Order: sequence, then structure tokens, then C-alpha cells
Amino acid sequence: MAGHPKVVTLKDKSRITIRRMVDGDLDSLLRFYRSIPESDRMFLRIDVTNPRNVERRFGHLNYDYVYPLLALDEDRIIAIATLFRAEFGWKRNVGEIRVLISRPYQRKGLATVFLRELFFRALQAGIHKLQAEMVDNQASAIAAFERLGFRKEATLRKHVTDLRGKRDNLVIMTLDIEDYWHLIEDHVENLDIRIHNV
Ligand SMILES: CC(C)(COP(=O)(O)OP(=O)(O)OC[C@H]1O[C@@H](n2cnc3c(N)ncnc32)[C@H](O)[C@@H]1OP(=O)(O)O)[C@@H](O)C(=O)NCCC(=O)NCCS
Repeated sequence: MAGHPKVVTLKDKSRITIRRMVDGDLDSLLRFYRSIPESDRMFLRIDVTNPRNVERRFGHLNYDYVYPLLALDEDRIIAIATLFRAEFGWKRNVGEIRVLISRPYQRKGLATVFLRELFFRALQAGIHKLQAEMVDNQASAIAAFERLGFRKEATLRKHVTDLRGKRDNLVIMTLDIEDYWHLIEDHVENLDIRIHNV
């Protein structure tokens, strides 16, 4: 799990690059967001087609709190996955993950790659629990996160409003990193394996 950039060969053998976002990416990021259908952008909290919002969210990044990874096909951004964390307060050990992949690149394993990278980052950063939010009719998103160990922790009924003004249930999916780590540690202990730093 060394750093970035990384070249990734996806399930269909296409090759993309994954790396952290830097300040110079904002113009291409805006082009990427503008190419995404509105229905795929509904879970975001800002209108990302507006350059001022993109600058406010991703300009002058502090990776401790906003850690965005980009996927690029040659020089073109084709997906983004971000780990958000509160700067202060009782939620500082919760990491929120948001993933957005452009349609032609979906179902090739990219979300799986992103979650792997962000899981490792969260573990290193001392985040205890990961969270992702989606609407309960987003079967693909729910399936993708479940496949990687996330579970539906809560459903908030009629909590969000879709493009046509219809109210939908919001699903909060979580993965407890600390519990998962304890599971591994308990298993190692049960096997009577001892590990020491040298
Ligand atoms: C949800 C999303 C992130 C999934 O990304 P992806 O790169 O297509 O997912 P992966 O290829 O890694 O798929 C992992 C697993 O998820 C499940 N999955 C993904 N897409 C699916 C679909 N359309 N239907 C059913 N299951 C699906 C499958 O089990 C899949 O494994 P498999 O292909 O080996 O069967 C992507 O569709 C997306 O960006 N959607 C729009 C934004 C969004 O809804 N984000 C989620 C909120 S954070």
C-alpha cells in the first residue's frame, strides 16, 4: 500500500491512474462534474457545476479533513472518491466517504479500488468508523458498499428529495474499522500467534 500515483488495470483491462487531488486540478474537476448526469450528483451537498463551490470545497486542500482521490484516463478525470472528516468535536473519528464514477467507467471495479485506498488512509488516520449515505433505491451503490463489508446501519424515512420533488428514504451505511481490527487481533490471539516489532 505505498503512496500515489498508482496505475490500476481494471476488470476490462483498461488502465487508469489514481492519485490525490492537487490545487491545479480544479478546472478539469469542473469539466468532470459537468459531464455527470444530475441524478448521479444528487447525493452531493453542493452544486458542483458551479466553479465557486468547487473552489470552496477543494481549493487549498488540507488532506487531514478532505482527502480526495481522483481517477484519470490519460489526463481526463473520470472519477472521484473523497474521505471527509470533522476538524473538531465528537464526530472527529468518523470518516464519510463519497464516491462518484462517470457512467462509462462504472462496473469495472473502480469503487472497490477507491474504497481499498480510503480504508487504508482511514486506518492510518485513526478514524474509527466509515460512513456513506445513499438513497434506498440506489441498488447499485448499496450493493457496491455491501460487497466491501459496509452494512445498512440506519434508514431515515422520507429524508431526502429527488429531482422531481419526490421524497426518498436515506440509507446510512457504515463500516466499523475498530471492530474489524479487533476481529483480526482476536483471531490472531486465538491462533496463539505472537507478533513483535524488532
Ligand atoms: C455506486 C458506484 C460508486 C459503484 O461504483 P463501481 O465502480 O461501478 O463499482 P464496482 O465496479 O467496484 O462494483 C463493486 C460491486 O458492487 C456491486 N455493483 C456495482 N454496480 C452495480 C449495479 N449497477 N448493479 C448491481 N450491483 C452493482 C456489484 O456487486 C459489484 O461487484 P461485481 O461487478 O463483481 O458484481 C457508482 O455506480 C457511482 O459512482 N454511482 C453514482 C454515485 C453514487 O451513487 N455514489 C454512491 C454514494 S457515496
